[in-house]
Amino acid sequence: MQGMRRRTLLSAAGGTAMAGGLLGVGNAQAAAAPAARSVPRASGPYDQKIKQLMGRMTVDEKFGQLQQLPWTWDTGPGGGETKAVEDAARKGMLGSVFSIFGAKTTNALQKIAVEESRLGIPLVFGLDVIHGMWTNFPIPLAQAASFDPAVTVADAEVSAKEARSNGVHWTFAPMMDVTHEPRWGRIAEGSGEDPYLTSAFAAAKVRGYQGEDPKDLKAKDRVAACAKHFVAYGGAEGGRDYNTVDVSESRLRNLYLPPFKAALDAGVATVMASFNTISGVPAHANPHTLTDILKKEWGFDGLVVSDFTGVKELIAHGFAEDGADAARLSLNAGVDMEMTSTHFVENGKKLLRAGKIEQQRLDDAVYRVLQLKYQLGLFDQPYVEEKGEITEPSADARKAARAAAARSMVLLKNEKSVLPLSAKASSIAVVGPFADSADLLGTWVIPASEKKFPAGKVLDAVKKAAPGAKVTYAKGVDAAGKDTSGIGEAVAAAKAAEVTVVVVGEPPAISGEAAARSDISLPGAQEKLIEAVAATGKPFVVVLVNGRPLTVGDWLAQAPAVLEAWHPGIEAGHAIADVLFGAVNPGGKLPASFPRTVGQIPIHYNHESTGRPYDADNKYTSKYLDLPDGPQFPFGFGLSYTDFTLGDPKLSRSSVAADALRKGDTLEVSVEVRNTGKRAGDEVVQLYVHDRAASLTQPVRRLRGFRRVTLAPGKHTTVRFRLGAADLGFWTNDSHGHFTVEAGAFDLYVGTSSAATAKLGLTVD
Ligand code: NOJ
Repeated sequence: MQGMRRRTLLSAAGGTAMAGGLLGVGNAQAAAAPAARSVPRASGPYDQKIKQLMGRMTVDEKFGQLQQLPWTWDTGPGGGETKAVEDAARKGMLGSVFSIFGAKTTNALQKIAVEESRLGIPLVFGLDVIHGMWTNFPIPLAQAASFDPAVTVADAEVSAKEARSNGVHWTFAPMMDVTHEPRWGRIAEGSGEDPYLTSAFAAAKVRGYQGEDPKDLKAKDRVAACAKHFVAYGGAEGGRDYNTVDVSESRLRNLYLPPFKAALDAGVATVMASFNTISGVPAHANPHTLTDILKKEWGFDGLVVSDFTGVKELIAHGFAEDGADAARLSLNAGVDMEMTSTHFVENGKKLLRAGKIEQQRLDDAVYRVLQLKYQLGLFDQPYVEEKGEITEPSADARKAARAAAARSMVLLKNEKSVLPLSAKASSIAVVGPFADSADLLGTWVIPASEKKFPAGKVLDAVKKAAPGAKVTYAKGVDAAGKDTSGIGEAVAAAKAAEVTVVVVGEPPAISGEAAARSDISLPGAQEKLIEAVAATGKPFVVVLVNGRPLTVGDWLAQAPAVLEAWHPGIEAGHAIADVLFGAVNPGGKLPASFPRTVGQIPIHYNHESTGRPYDADNKYTSKYLDLPDGPQFPFGFGLSYTDFTLGDPKLSRSSVAADALRKGDTLEVSVEVRNTGKRAGDEVVQLYVHDRAASLTQPVRRLRGFRRVTLAPGKHTTVRFRLGAADLGFWTNDSHGHFTVEAGAFDLYVGTSSAATAKLGLTVD
């Protein structure tokens, strides 16, 4: 019987395509010979033009196109530091420049490339527009908490418009690194711990930036997107940025790769390599991921850019001997453009002559660069209209950012209905280091934007939302440091007020790149501030502003209400006030588990089972002696000011034939959700799948569907999910790519968090 059950009922390798896009072509290349890495590329609409142009290029000019150099933020053309960039552009030895923006600035540099270089090939300008250019939306992790991809589309559309009008053609976003590491600062830039949720947000954001046709990025309100970081960057050991990743093929394919595949299916124009190693081979020199999977199996015909000095870092990794070796390894592995370091351009010609790089590989890389420039329309219109430059957030953009931020907030606790606050309160104290702070934009903000368009403050917004209230303020403590001398003033303010709002969290600078923390509790003496306010016995609310899951200490038990607001962006103050006073009923859900302590990490919901799963009554099971089971707050969790009930979930059929699945048949899971409370509100209905026994141990749950619905009080709706082969199967450890659905029993869980208990049984036979 067991043998029968192990039979693979649906599998694919070697070119089979399948609904959901999960299956691809395996390939058997393992050797390092450059010729073996050449990728057959389908010819695109610009084929002839590109080939004609390439026919006129010297080898030096070809390598020049593979070079991307950084600009300095504030100095204009002609400044000392930019001379190298201008000279390279003039010589036709530069393909791209990044960290540059502004219609005048980009046009001036472009003019050098177009009018002074031999072939006049335009430059492509890149910039990290991660969650906004002038109009900063909430950080990407917060956006994921909305469980509503339309939120990220709103960000992408506003960002694309603002960036393109400033001469920026290409944003280095979205970041789609799934991670189980809240210590890792870059969790702020992605969509959290789940590949399904991350895939949905990655695809939506790519479409938001690029529009529906990836071959045509000419429009004034579009930019090329970049799927980053390829791949498994979120697996950094210990959450320490840039750290080693050792990952099985199955985990690579089931956990880290799906968002990239989703981005590709959405037409993403470019991909960025990641800083980490993947099972010993740095991602920047990894032919298996960059060429075998990305370019051959998935047929990616766009551009792969290195990360900042990622090629040079092959030397520090102990993988390349010197710069020439780094260039050889990286280019042959599949990187097409080098960011910041200059090993391709410095060593390329010699490597080519020595036969260490194939002409075909060089031409393929150059083709990809030129193709991007054609897609962006740069040969026809290299310049941006100076009078069309957007230099500040529009009222509409601010409105969208405010709605996005409020939609991203997660209500973690609300006892005795402290929230929503009454706008008619006679007095409100607003305390804490972030109460009167504009440092709420989040990580990855363009410095000029931070200066010109800081985040709105909570204190100001509370005053506006409750015009009749006496609003008092005390900082209490700094965001960091041990000084508690200000707590007395905050306590006095809390005592004198009807209700207190305590705004605490992380300064944005301690999340994001190179911002790992070993302790992810509230920094400094902020917990002491909360405890002191709690000791007054008066009602209060804690608002958390942070870039990662936090460990919430003993103060949680003392706080009647906790709102997770993340780093909400430019409209932070108003968005927080919207939720605090109930203009918006919070409906966000956690995109990553909140651990009880750092020692519990990793504590993600989609873990595999041990042979001794947790059992409270049995010591010899998987657990910590000093902690209860599970996280403090699970993935998918979030409360509302209203109440929802779910009916019994239904499955259209309790068994399905493998043959039918293979032909694309699907099942329907449906559930009725009803607002049983007194206010309109949002609920996110979630569907999880568990393959009970498989040839590779499966996660105890995997998210396979989510839907955010809005319901008026007393109203109900039926949420329907489609389940197909792509949802029931998994990638095996076959390095050539093998996706399989195995026969047997599956559990389906439907509910409002990853702790959902309503269960259905499904048999695949
Ligand atoms: C390094 C980061 O890892 C990457 O995400 C970013 O796009 C580049 N720097 C360029 O700023």
